[in-house]
Amino acid sequence: MTAGENMIDHDLLKYIIFRKIQLDEPLPYRLMLDADPSWNAISKYLAFSEIHIGLFNHEIIASIVLYMPDKDTLEIKNIAVDERFQEKGIGRMLLVYATRISIKKEIRTMMIGTSNASISQLYLYQKAGFEMTEIKLNFFAYNYPEPIYENGIQCRHMILLKKYL
Ligand code: ACO
Repeated sequence: MTAGENMIDHDLLKYIIFRKIQLDEPLPYRLMLDADPSWNAISKYLAFSEIHIGLFNHEIIASIVLYMPDKDTLEIKNIAVDERFQEKGIGRMLLVYATRISIKKEIRTMMIGTSNASISQLYLYQKAGFEMTEIKLNFFAYNYPEPIYENGIQCRHMILLKKYL
């Protein structure tokens, strides 16, 4: 099987390996920038976070960045699946994987933030057990140099969601 080849989703999911990135591996820049278009913003949390990846045929096709501001809390700062592999259940699996890591670390609260315009992400996170708890008004409008649009709506506000373990 080669990357991107059409296949039944369940078959694909069986072949994906999730693990922490190793020090000598290249960072999945393109994936991380898909989730957060500001390298400036990414670099602020990257140094203090764990990066985990999803591999298919030795190729990195998904990534998730986990930040632990304190011993009880884990924030998913960045989650992305390669465009060729989206809508096949990998995003959902990444959230299950992050939840397993959180349980192992005895984390009590998981957090994830996305924009008001990110409709499919809000759907995915709520289906995975996250609940909307806060809106950071104008977060994207103030912190990003260019306006960002998704689904024809400007990404102005950050919707914060939490999952209590
Ligand atoms: N439109 C409609 N529904 C969608 C879409 C979409 N674009 N994407 C996912 N879904 C639905 C799926 O149908 C599925 O629904 P179901 O559980 O009812 O069957 C559910 O969402 C889960 O979908 P997955 O296939 O598991 O998600 P996917 O592998 O596509 O990953 C992700 C989702 C990570 C958001 C991916 O689309 C992506 O990388 N997008 C670009 C980067 C991005 O926006 N990242 C998140 C930014 S916020 C942050 O990083 C904290």
